[in-house]
Parts: sequence; C-alpha cells; structure tokens
Amino acid sequence: MGMSRKTLKTTVGLIGSDVLDYTVGDDPTLDLALIDADCAGSAAHAVMLSRMPGHILSSAECRSVIRELVAVMRSARAGTFSITLADQDVHLAVERTLTEKLGDTGKKVHTFRSRNDQVAVDLRLFIREELFGLMDEAAELAGAFLAFARRHAAIPMAGRTHLQPAMPSSVGLWASAHAESLLDDLRELASVLDLNDQCPLGSAASYGVPAPIDRRLTARLLGFKRPVHNVLYANNVRGKHEARVLAACGQVMLTLARAAEDLILFTMPEFGYFQLPEDCTTGSSIMPQKRNPDVCELVRSRAARVWSRTVCAAEIARGLPSGYNRDLQDTKGELMDGLAVTRGSLRAFLPLVRGMKADPAALRKGFTPDVFATDVALEQVSAGVPFRDAYHYVKTHLDELGHRDPAEALRRKTHYGAPAGLDFAWLARELSAVRAAGKRRCRSAHAALSRLLGTRYPVV
Ligand code: ARG
Repeated sequence: MGMSRKTLKTTVGLIGSDVLDYTVGDDPTLDLALIDADCAGSAAHAVMLSRMPGHILSSAECRSVIRELVAVMRSARAGTFSITLADQDVHLAVERTLTEKLGDTGKKVHTFRSRNDQVAVDLRLFIREELFGLMDEAAELAGAFLAFARRHAAIPMAGRTHLQPAMPSSVGLWASAHAESLLDDLRELASVLDLNDQCPLGSAASYGVPAPIDRRLTARLLGFKRPVHNVLYANNVRGKHEARVLAACGQVMLTLARAAEDLILFTMPEFGYFQLPEDCTTGSSIMPQKRNPDVCELVRSRAARVWSRTVCAAEIARGLPSGYNRDLQDTKGELMDGLAVTRGSLRAFLPLVRGMKADPAALRKGFTPDVFATDVALEQVSAGVPFRDAYHYVKTHLDELGHRDPAEALRRKTHYGAPAGLDFAWLARELSAVRAAGKRRCRSAHAALSRLLGTRYPVV
C-alpha cells in the first residue's frame, strides 16, 4: 500500500514535490542575484556556438538569443522575472524563457554546456561585481579613518596594552592603524579578485565535451583574464573559492570589529575620548537619555557571522570528492550573505567615522603619570644607565613620577611609523593605488560585457 506522492514536471524529469522542495532549497530566491551573470554567461556561450565549426547557432539566431537575454536582464530590473519551483534555478528559468520566446533556437543554447559550469561562471561574475563594490567601500572607509587621523594627528591619547594605560600615543596613530589595516584587507581582496579572474565556462559537467569549443573566446568575451585550465579543477574549486572570498571578507570584518570595540569603549562616559554622531546611534524605548552604539555592536556580532559563513563553506567543500556534487549549492547562500553583511557593515560604519568627534580634554585625562614610566626609564638610558637598572629604578619609584606634557612626549616619537613619524601621504597613495586598480578592472570588465551584449552594462 503506497502513499500517493505529488510530483512536479521539470525540465530534467518528474520529481516528487518534497524532494523538489528539499533539493531546490533557497535557489529560486538566491538565484535572483545571479540573473545578470547567467544572462551574460549564456550570451558568451551563444556567441561561441555561433562561431564554432558546425555553427550550432547561426549569427542571426545568436543575435536573437542575446536580444532575449538582455530583455530578461531588463525584466529582472523591473522585478517581473521569476524563478519557479519547477524551474529549480536561474539556469533553467532563463532556458525556459528563451524557449518560450525563440522556440528551437532557445532549446539549442544549452549545447556543450552543463548547469555545473553555468553556475560556476555565474558565481565568478557575481563575485567579481561584489568585489568591485566591496573594494570601493573599504577604500572609502579607510579614507575616512585616514582623514580623521590627519585632522587629529597631534592630539595625545594614552596608548593601552591589556587595556591598561601603557605609553604616550596619539589619535592619529589610533585612527591610521585602522586605515592601514583596511589597506592590507584591500590588498587581499585584490589578490582574491585576481584568482577570481579565471573563467570556468566550458568545463561542462566536470569533464569537458567531445567538441572543439573555444573556452578562451568565452573567457575573453566575459572580460576574464583566462579560462580555468583543467575542466575538473574548474568544478572542484567551487566552494573552496567561495571560502577564500569569504575569508577575505572576514579580514575586513576583523578590522571593523576592532575599531567597533575601541569605539564602544572610548565613547563610554567614563572615557569620553570620542563622540559618535547622534544619527549614528540609537535610543532606548524606556531610558530617555540613551544614545547607544548599536552599529558597533552589530559589526562585532556580524564579524562572527561572516567567519561562520566562511567556515561553513570550507566545511562543505572539505568533505567532497572530485567532480560536481549537489552539496556545493549550499555554499551559495553562505557566500551571498557574507558579502552582503560585509558590504553593509562598511556602509554603516562610514558615516560614523566621518562624523565622530574627539575630545582633547577627555583624552588628556587618560594621561596618568604612569603612562610616562617607560619614557622616564629611557631618559636615564640616554644618561648612560643600563636599561634594566633604569627599569628597576623607575619600578621602585613609581610614586615619584610627576606630571608631564603628553604633547612633548609625542614629539619625541619621530621614528618611522611612530606617532610623530607617520607617513600619511604614503598611506593615502597606497590606498588610492589599490582603489584605482580596482576601478580600472571594473571598467574593463563592464566594457567587455557591454560589447558582448551590444548595450551598456550594467543594463538599466
Ligand atoms: N543550483 C545548482 C547549484 O547551485 C545548479 C547546478 C545543478 N547541477 C546539477 N547537476 N544538479 O549547484
């Protein structure tokens, strides 16, 4: 006695509805973010089909395919393109649309291609766009930290280790440390962008196809530097690549989390070193006086979230044998969330850094006499006392440390990278160099897509 099971007719056969629900997962929603990429990938593939021996598509058919793909992109912009459960994913939704519009021509587009290389190329194109935006946002925030550092370069701030008062420092050192951290994050993003710049299209199901397809041509048409060479590797690297992108996002979030933690602490009334702009804080429904640093707190929690997405993608990839496995589909949501959270964090943090104020009087109060203890010991060294003796002398006479001028103490720290030896101009140059390189890559990628689609990309 069998239970009657509902089934759905899909492009790839009859599938039981619970099984379809389960296997499709979040794809109908997540894949909406891949429509542009899927259409661009299909356009390049169609051009390649029209140029290869045997001309699977005629030039006229190829033009009509591209016209319909651009129409899909436009309808996605207008919010009128949908991916149904029976479609399963963006790839079959686009194929269904092409077939509805163009009949047999639409049915030919999937020749010599698999959804496996299709989704792989979609994700590379998606990641490329996201990295362009993310790098720009990270550079913008780095610039805001640098501007704050320059404006407050000489304002003394007690340096802390273990959160305990340590040595004389400056607001300029504190703020530009966060800017330099973002510079390194940007360099890492640039190297991930470079690794991303390899096209998996034409790898098909994981093993290539028995026809002379031109993978270099499709790579070039899509604005990639080169194809991924080995067709099996092109599929194996999915998931692993996502984990790499997410780890680079995680580095950005580590930078933000540290700055956020500093600000939560230093804006407490007990410190009062900095003040956040009013419209970047939130209030309480019961306590009228409250202005809470919620952005900083959420940056802290979302840094944890991005790292857990990273670990999840890596863990999915870790258990897999060579060749496409459906597990890989589950790395897609992790990737998209991690990128969105990182970019959102950068955008929310920017006005906070742009509008925050430093309070020199409150900062000065952080200079208890013990902050100068090391400086005093080092003065004895310049009078000829061995350092360890000077150290012990000061350690046993801490109550004799008098008040000193923090600004004067700062002026003596002139060596490379110290509070009075910071090269802000160098930092600014490095930042604008990585930013300009990202922008150049973006322009050339968009120019390639515009040529391919015969209309300006991004399509409006
Ligand atoms: N939605 C699928 C994914 O993201 C597309 C590839 C499906 N391929 C397959 N052989 N079932 O992985």
